[in-house]
Amino acid sequence: MINYHKTPNGFLIPKKSEDFLRINKLKDIVKKGLDHEGSGHDFKHTMRVYNNAMKIAEGENVDLDVIKTSVLFHDYAYSEKFFEGEHGDISAKLAKPIIEKENFAKEQVRKILLSIEKHNFWQHNESDVPIETKILRDADRLDAIGYTGILRAISYAINAKKNPIQSLKDQLTISFETKKGIELSNERFRVIREFIQNIESEFN
Ligand SMILES: [Fe+2]
Ligand SMILES: [Fe+2]
Repeated sequence: MINYHKTPNGFLIPKKSEDFLRINKLKDIVKKGLDHEGSGHDFKHTMRVYNNAMKIAEGENVDLDVIKTSVLFHDYAYSEKFFEGEHGDISAKLAKPIIEKENFAKEQVRKILLSIEKHNFWQHNESDVPIETKILRDADRLDAIGYTGILRAISYAINAKKNPIQSLKDQLTISFETKKGIELSNERFRVIREFIQNIESEFN
């Protein structure tokens, strides 16, 4: 049976199409906000995390709308040129009024904002969070390792005047929480280990 929703102007449209239109509208908002971003939290990063999250969520009994929306807004703090405080908190604060305008259930809004707030894996390791939050964290972590992770870690280290090799070694300490996340991380960790080994033997 097809589930219908009434739009504000009275049209009945299938719920699936409505969810699709809503997520595309939110994607456009985030894309515009992160257009100028140059510190590794740009819209391309957001969409890589989005794709990772869809892979991790496959076959799991989870709320995909919560995952998609929290992924889209997880680094939204960077839409502000300057902000003070932890970027997960700021992203949730900025996302709140946007998300509340959409037809999410109260519980979905709660989970979306919590996931955004707790997504930063360097600061949050609480295991007492919904599965949707763990999926966002693992999807974000996957983008910090592998070939993309190498590029991001090196450019971060150069900007922050840190040792790039040490930054790469730090990436090896990242841990994963979901079965699929752990599975997907294995190959990406291998790539970093091999890179460190090769570059150290060439340098020294
Ligand atoms: Fe983040
Ligand atoms: Fe991120």
